[in-house]
Order: sequence, then C-alpha cells, then structure tokens
Amino acid sequence: MQANTMDYARQQDGQDEIRHLRNLFVIPSKADLASKTIQTPSSGQSGAGERSVYLCGNSLGLQPSLTRSYFEQYLNTWASKGVYGHFKDIEDSNLVPWLHVDDDVKDDMANIVEALPSEVVIMQTLTANLHLMMASFYRPNRERYKIILEGKAFPSDHYAVDSHIRHHELDPADAMILIEPKSKDNPILSTEYIKSIIDKHASDAALLLLPGIQFYTGQFFDMPGLTAYAQNKGLTVGWDLAHAVGNVPVQLHEWNVDFAVWCTYKYLNCGPGCIGGAFVHERHGEVIERAAGPHGESRFEYRNRLSGWWGSSKASRFAMENEFHPIPGGAGFQLSNPSVADTTAVKASMDIFKQTNMQALRKKSLKLTKYLEDLLDELAKEQEKTTGDACFSIMSPRDPQERGAQLSLLLKPGLLDTVMHELEEAGVVVDERRPDVIRVAPAPLYNNHEDVFLFATHFRHACEAAKGAKSGAKASAVMVDGGKEDKGWSEIK
Ligand SMILES: Cc1ncc(COP(=O)(O)O)c(C=O)c1O
Repeated sequence: MQANTMDYARQQDGQDEIRHLRNLFVIPSKADLASKTIQTPSSGQSGAGERSVYLCGNSLGLQPSLTRSYFEQYLNTWASKGVYGHFKDIEDSNLVPWLHVDDDVKDDMANIVEALPSEVVIMQTLTANLHLMMASFYRPNRERYKIILEGKAFPSDHYAVDSHIRHHELDPADAMILIEPKSKDNPILSTEYIKSIIDKHASDAALLLLPGIQFYTGQFFDMPGLTAYAQNKGLTVGWDLAHAVGNVPVQLHEWNVDFAVWCTYKYLNCGPGCIGGAFVHERHGEVIERAAGPHGESRFEYRNRLSGWWGSSKASRFAMENEFHPIPGGAGFQLSNPSVADTTAVKASMDIFKQTNMQALRKKSLKLTKYLEDLLDELAKEQEKTTGDACFSIMSPRDPQERGAQLSLLLKPGLLDTVMHELEEAGVVVDERRPDVIRVAPAPLYNNHEDVFLFATHFRHACEAAKGAKSGAKASAVMVDGGKEDKGWSEIK
C-alpha cells in the first residue's frame, strides 16, 4: 500500500499499541480554533466537531481530560475546606493534602527522567530553576570560571548565564564560551565538535550547559557521552530538558548528570507556564548531620544554595526556627510552597504517563517522525520534479537517534506567512520561528499517522499556495477525503 494515503496511515494507527492514550486528551476542534470566543459548543470537551491536526506539543502540549476534573477537586477542596485543605485527607479526592503535593508527583516524574525520586523536585519554572542551580553549581574561581553553552541556546538560558557571570563580576565576553555551528547552512552541532570546544577550554571552564534537545533544530545531543567527557575534564554539567522531558528517554542518574532543569508545558502537557522540574544528582544532595558546635554553628553540612523554607525538613518546617535543615536531594532546593493549581495539573499529566512508559512512547515516536520525514522527502522530490526546486528542506538530524519528536523545516524565503496562513485555515497547528522555519512535532501520546498524513497533505497545498502568492497565482482549496477512497495526496483536491 502506498505510504502517502489515508488508508495506509489508518492501517498503521490500527497497529499502534498505545493509540488509546489519544482519547485521554482534549484535541481542539477546527471550529474552536477558528472561533473568536471560548463559548463554542465543543470547547473543553473532546470529540465534538471536526478535530484539528495539532502538531505543536513542542511548544504547548494538549490538555489531558483529567486536568479539568482534578482542578474541580482542587477548587472544591479550597472552597469547602479552606486552610484545612493543607493537611486533611479528603476521601473522595484523587489529590493529597496540599502540604504534600510536591512529594506526590515526584516518583512519577522521577520515572520519566530515570532518576531516584529524591533527586527530583517539582518547583518554580525552568529559568528560575536554572538560576537556582547555577547559584549552587557555578562557583567560579581564578582557574575555572568559564561557562560553555551553545551560541543559539534558548535566549532565556543565554540571559541566565550572562547574568551569573556578571553577578560574579566577570566579563561575559571572556567567560561565556559560545558553541557556534561550523557553517551557517548546517546548524547541527556534532558531538566531536562540541568535545573539541570543551578541550579548548578544559583548563578554565567551570560549567557546560546544553539542551537535551535543541529547541530550533530538534537535535538530541549525546547526553551521556558529553556529560562524561566534560566531567572528565573537570567541568560540572547541567542540562536544559525543556524539549527532551517526556519526549525522549533520558537516564539522569545513570548518566551521572550534575543537574538538570525542565518545564512541564511541552511534552508533559501540564499547561502554559506550569511549575517546572529540576534534578540534582544524589551526590550533590547529601546532608550530613553532626553535633552542634559550641558557638551555635549549623548542625548540617550541605551543598551551598539559595534557600527557602520549603527546602527545609518537613519535621521542623513549622517550628519557625532559624536553622536551615535541608531535605536531602532535590527537594532541599525548594524556596516557596508550591502552587497547588500547578501541581494538580502535573498530577493529571503523571496519571497519563503512568499508563505507559518512555520506551513505548519512544518506539511510537520514532515511527511517527520517520513517517513524517518520508512523506516530506517524497513531497520535496515531487516539487523538484515539477518546479525544479523544493519549497523547503529538513533541518533536523536525519539519524532518528539524534532527534526527538520534532522536525524543523526551513522554507524558501518569502513563503512562511502564506504557508502558516494556509495551515491555520486548514486547522493544522504547528509553530513558526521567523524568518523561515516551521517546527512540526508529532507527540506520541496523542498524535497518530493520520495527523501526519493530514499535515503533509495540507502542507503540500500550502507550499503551492505560497509559491502562487509569490508569483501572483492562486491555488485552489484542498479537501481531504475522510479516507473513503484510497487516494494518494496528489489526487486529493
Ligand atoms: C529550551 C528552552 N529553555 C528555556 C525555556 C524557558 O522556559 P520558562 O519560560 O519556563 O522559564 C524554554 C521555553 O520554551 C525553552 O524552550
């Protein structure tokens, strides 16, 4: 059967062992996306109206249906119990008393990043966590003071690093080592190349900060290889897992990562701006208790950090004492009591992840992304044959092991606006990085081959429309048959 047909896509979906997980999400209908209000009949409920093709989990994951019901439990608890909600068990709620909400989601989050539960903490947001980690892990001295990061790191990471360097009264022009791609046309950074930069600064670099998956290109870095390599040269190694967590399997404990930070609103589906996560390796989270000194010295020995009361031992938290007694592990890095609204959303997400595992998700993801790549390669060939030039090229690594769920497409100049407009009209959601890139991310929890096929079909049309718009011609609207006949995309009009 031809791969570029709806029948093929549906046949593949029929063999998907975790296809039932899609039903646990609210997939916006096309009508909801197009409406200027949220009062449309299908809003908030899955299934009503023709669904959109949502391939934007790299930016904001879809809402699990459970989130709404857990939020109701949380709101009802707050409404009916007030402050008792902090410590009273509620028999008909899935949620724990608020005092324990952070602990309640830790084990499941630790499974996703393969860490010990004690190494993981749910707190703050990604950039705030990066600052907290750097406050503890970036301790520059005369010999070692440089931080190595990518030249095209997510800007927030760049700003955070820059500000820490300045905070220590150092000069970013000297202390910030940016890994720039060797050529402008190829933004992929090979492991060997990164290692060569580490080598160059091995004697004076203090910290290596990299993303697990690069936000722009979708490149999945060699996390264990680079961690070990840089640590052997005396560097501390931190990872920004914004695009990696819930997308690809990682083994933070086993890989001996020093620290990692992530957000929960992309592949973890916890909602915009939701509380983030962090990992602190077991060896950095130790708390040693000794006899109290004669002059009131602290009884506790631990890694220095910026501290707050929520990081202090639960047993003494309400004793209102001045002595900070950190909880061993990641939890000892907390500052404030966590937002219960946020952790409620995390709980809903974790209750979905618990129904599968990262290996099963990765297996499906590799297949889905390869299907996307195959359809796009075929389209590029077709465009080359008919017009002598393809409208786009794939920027993401071609080796499936070196990428996650995302393919980034570099469009020819001047096509982006029309392509995005046409996709939006068709109810296809992807995101853009100006001037010429779109990112397409089939998330294995809720996307399927049918989504990918529909994307490719509408993208094919959008490219035609964009080329037409550039040359003044107009393409006719595309109509995708619901699969009654086994038509290839080029026959679908
Ligand atoms: C790779 C990366 N790092 C950092 C951030 C910033 O995250 P936050 O706004 O949660 O601090 C993002 C946001 O999308 C990101 O993609």
